[in-house]
Order: sequence, then structure tokens, then C-alpha cells
Amino acid sequence: MEVTNRYVVIKHIIDGAPQESDFELRTEPLTLSIEPGKDEVIVKNLFLSIDPYQLNRMTSQSCFQQATNIAGALNPGEEIDGYGVGRVVASGNPEFKEGDLVSGFLSWAEYSIIKEGTSKFKGAKLNKVETMGFPLSYHAGFLGFSGITAFAGLFEVCKPQKGETVFVSAASGSVGSLVGQYAKLFGCYVVGCAGSQKKVDLLKEKLGFDEAFNYKEEIDLKSALKRYFPSGIDIYFDNVGAEMLEAAIENMNPFGRVAVCGVISEYTNEGKRAALNMVDVIYKRITIQGFLAALEHLQSGKFHVLEDISRGVESIPSAFAGLSR
Ligand SMILES: NC(=O)c1ccc[n+]([C@@H]2O[C@H](COP(=O)([O-])OP(=O)(O)OC[C@H]3O[C@@H](n4cnc5c(N)ncnc54)[C@H](OP(=O)(O)O)[C@@H]3O)[C@@H](O)[C@H]2O)c1
Repeated sequence: MEVTNRYVVIKHIIDGAPQESDFELRTEPLTLSIEPGKDEVIVKNLFLSIDPYQLNRMTSQSCFQQATNIAGALNPGEEIDGYGVGRVVASGNPEFKEGDLVSGFLSWAEYSIIKEGTSKFKGAKLNKVETMGFPLSYHAGFLGFSGITAFAGLFEVCKPQKGETVFVSAASGSVGSLVGQYAKLFGCYVVGCAGSQKKVDLLKEKLGFDEAFNYKEEIDLKSALKRYFPSGIDIYFDNVGAEMLEAAIENMNPFGRVAVCGVISEYTNEGKRAALNMVDVIYKRITIQGFLAALEHLQSGKFHVLEDISRGVESIPSAFAGLSR
């Protein structure tokens, strides 16, 4: 059978915040069968995770492209690969058969053609998905990268103790929302920040954060954090970098831990960087660690999974541009 495959590419290198107009929707005919002897798999994409790190693959100025070979630079017109889940529609690979649900690095497209060694993600491979009764979309987020990132960042990097104070930025995001919930379940006092009152309400009312605030309404982030943490911050889970990281460092307690998960506010602004008070870091003996990347709480209903699903391959550019708004 032949279909029209629609896919998204970047038109040019993107410096600054991405706009929908930076992307182009292209079409090409695709035959849903594999030539005999070819070790390929064709996947109908069902859910794609639209992630901020992709920005660093699309810019000209990112050190990310030199510092790691995990996800290579993306060039204009090239296929964009990203994490997702889908269903096998044709397979020349004995490990997969038509109808299998799979996760892995798919294309920003309606269909992905997975060939050995084509993904720019080192070691990327397709895995079969057992849904375990969860919605399939969870396997692109909570049971995929975001869940692993939140869990590893909090427990492996920050090593929380019961009763400690935890601050999470971009707290209503895919990673931050899980970090805050993990920390609450573990017995910490958790405050999150987000960019709207609606998100702040969600953090407090649905996700069980002890406190939350809208960072866009704060004139002075250092004094805002002093207000929410009068006895200081033990753990800061940083998703945004720049002035939020500076403010957190100023409010950290001795032996505080900072997990630098991401610095989204810096991704689109080369001139924006945190200028840390290193004297604070030394005298408070703060550990700052970057890192690259649980199921029973989900089953018990203790976790709320936040998803923002947009439909159709043509909606990818607006979903992606929306990440930095
Ligand atoms: N280290 C790793 O292995 C790893 C893995 C996954 C993700 N990450 C990083 O973790 C961070 C969060 O990822 P995610 O998937 O949770 O993101 P997400 O769900 O896409 O959420 C992104 C949120 O960040 C906030 N944001 C955007 N621009 C901002 C700015 N200039 N200043 C402050 N906040 C801003 C926005 O929320 P507001 O409305 O609240 O501003 C936006 O909704 C990102 O930095 C990402 O790169 C790292």
C-alpha cells in the first residue's frame, strides 16, 4: 500500500526562540512494505515527545553539539528524530512484526522508517512496548525520558532526606511536575515556580506542591525565594538556569544540592547565563551537578501525569515553538 507521509523539517538554523515559521511541513509518497532482505521497520507514529533539548540541536551556537555525541546537530531539510511511540506497519527485522507497539527514536512525521544506525542518537534502538494498562502516551513521557530524568535527577543526584526543602523550576513541565510529586511522596517540603497563575494553581491544587509562585510576577527572585524558604533550600532541581539559578544559590542551605537538569531560559539566548556567587558555593559547600539521562505510584493513582497533546503532524511546529513561550 502507498501512503502520503507528512513530515516536519527546519527551514534554517534557528537562533533565538523557535517560531512556527521556522518549520516546513513536507510530503512524500511512502510504500508500506519492506524490500526482501532489508533490515528495516516502518512505524506509524502515535505519540511524539516534543522536548526542549531539540532546540540545542537546531541552533548554530550550542556547545551541546560538541560536548556530547548523544544527539547530533540537525540541518535544514533533514529528518528530525525524537522520542516517541508507535505501531509497526511493516518489518524486515525478525525482532518486530506488524502490529507491535514500539518506542524509540522516531521521526517528526506520520511514519518513521527505522534503519540500523540511521538515528543521530547514539545507541538509539527500537523497543517493544508493554502498555501495562497505562495509556500509550505515558510511554512517551512519564514512562519514557521525562520519568527517568525526574527520578534519576532527584534521587541519584540530589539524594533527598525526609523533611528537606526542595525547590523545582519549570515545575509544571513534563520533568518538573514529576520531580515535585516524587519529592512530596518522599516526605519533602516542595515549592515550584511556573509562568502563569493557572499553572501555579495546578501545582498546588492537583499535584500537591506545598507552595507555588508565578516567577513572571516577581520583581526580585532572590527575595521571592527567601519568602518561600525562610529556613533555606536544601535541594534545587534546576530546569531553567540563569537568574533563577543565581537566586536559588543565594538561598541554599549549607551542603545544599543542585541538580542542573536543564537551562531552558538560556537555550534561545546566547547572552543569558547564570553568574553564580561562587563564594556562596564554597562557604556553603554546595554541590552543583549536571546530569543526562517508577511505576508503582502511577499504578496506585498517586501520580498525576500532565500531558499537552496536539494532534496531527502539522501541529508539531506550533507545539515546539510553544515550549519557549
Ligand atoms: N538532563 C537531562 O537528561 C534532561 C532530560 C529531559 C529534559 N531536560 C531539561 O529539563 C528541562 C525541562 O524539560 P521538560 O521536558 O520538563 O520541559 P517542558 O515540559 O517542555 O516544559 C518547558 C517549560 O519551561 C518553561 N520555560 C520556557 N522558557 C522559559 C524561560 N525562559 N524561563 C523559565 N521557564 C521557561 C515553560 O513553563 P513556564 O510557563 O512555567 O515558564 C515551559 O512550559 C529543560 O531544560 C530540558 O532541556 C533535561
